[in-house]
Amino acid sequence: MADRAGTAGADNARGRARRTHAPDPASEPLVRLDGIVKRFGDSTALDRLTLDIYPGEFFALLGPSGCGKSTLLRLLAGFETPSEGRVLLAGDDIGHVPPYRRPVNMMFQSYALFPHLTVAEMLALVKLEEFARRKPDRLSGGERQRVALARSLAKRPKVLLLDEPLAALDKKLRQRTQYELMDLQERLGTTFVIVTHDQEEAMTVADRIAVMSRGRLVQVGAPSEVYEQPNSRYVAEFVGDVNLVEGRLASSGPAGSVIESRAGRLASTQQVDAVPGATVWMALRPEKLRLAAGPPGDAGENCARGTVLDIGYLGSLSVYQVALDNGTVMRAAVANATRLIEQPIGRDDRVWLSWTSQAGVVLTR
Ligand SMILES: Nc1ncnc2c1ncn2[C@@H]1O[C@H](COP(=O)(O)OP(=O)(O)O)[C@@H](O)[C@H]1O
Ligand SMILES: [Mg+2]
Repeated sequence: MADRAGTAGADNARGRARRTHAPDPASEPLVRLDGIVKRFGDSTALDRLTLDIYPGEFFALLGPSGCGKSTLLRLLAGFETPSEGRVLLAGDDIGHVPPYRRPVNMMFQSYALFPHLTVAEMLALVKLEEFARRKPDRLSGGERQRVALARSLAKRPKVLLLDEPLAALDKKLRQRTQYELMDLQERLGTTFVIVTHDQEEAMTVADRIAVMSRGRLVQVGAPSEVYEQPNSRYVAEFVGDVNLVEGRLASSGPAGSVIESRAGRLASTQQVDAVPGATVWMALRPEKLRLAAGPPGDAGENCARGTVLDIGYLGSLSVYQVALDNGTVMRAAVANATRLIEQPIGRDDRVWLSWTSQAGVVLTR
């Protein structure tokens, strides 16, 4: 992708020392999807989709149900052939190579197990040595999942495809298994492509995420890029919670932009690629808003007055729904850094929301 330069920095931002197999921007892509179209009768499941995946990447396909994630995976596995376009693996066109001749394997959502699995090395890899003699029906959901994983890795594929592998697990087990998957992928150095509709899962496990909508890629980037620099309202809303404030672009230049909106004048340090007068949206994540009983120091712009409608207590943070005096509602997340049970700001209180000129992203679509 054109903006892969941002990936390494974004990885560092994740504050982890993992990623010994982090994609090397100079390397050749392992998987290249080139102008892929997939039609089923009259409907188009994949629409001119172009994507590179690099050796050793943990890549996530994220999108709502029906957007074409499984179809894309099945094309990589060889269970579907493209209507148009090419599927390349290490530079070779594999569009018409049958699944069993591809160095690619798919772990299915269902637990299709061989009853006589004896791949001890693979079992050790997924921490299941002690289960080697057990029958599949004596395994828990999570254990079956790991056996299925071991099985799909037994032939040492170059690419492992995972279609919603953790969907059947409860939340705690799912989170644990996510970290195990990351650990396994890192130790093997195998390229993993995972399909999920769960944005937290994609953000947790993946080096890069492709956000899909209706058979197309809307944005491809590191989790932090997709979250902090969404390229559209669609991505901003699909990945995390966001306040979208609609307005008109008053001016834009290298020093930043100004938007006139119902929430007043909004100033951003971002230069916006649109003509003055164009409709734009300021995307503000709830955790980037400041909530206070009084007005901010500079109340001229980037602030709005309102009344607390509701407070959602989530333990680690509280989400304040604030009905602005202009009639719109915004959500502000406040970290519960102390153990105070009494909230200093309560329901029906008059409050001010404010944010810095770097807090939001101005979107043109
Ligand atoms: N074998 C098929 N025949 C007809 N339509 C299909 C077939 N497979 C998928 N589709 C359609 O293609 C679209 C994408 O499906 P899919 O890739 O399964 O989405 P996702 O995995 O993102 O939920 C859907 O509209 C689905 O109904
Ligand atoms: Mg699917």
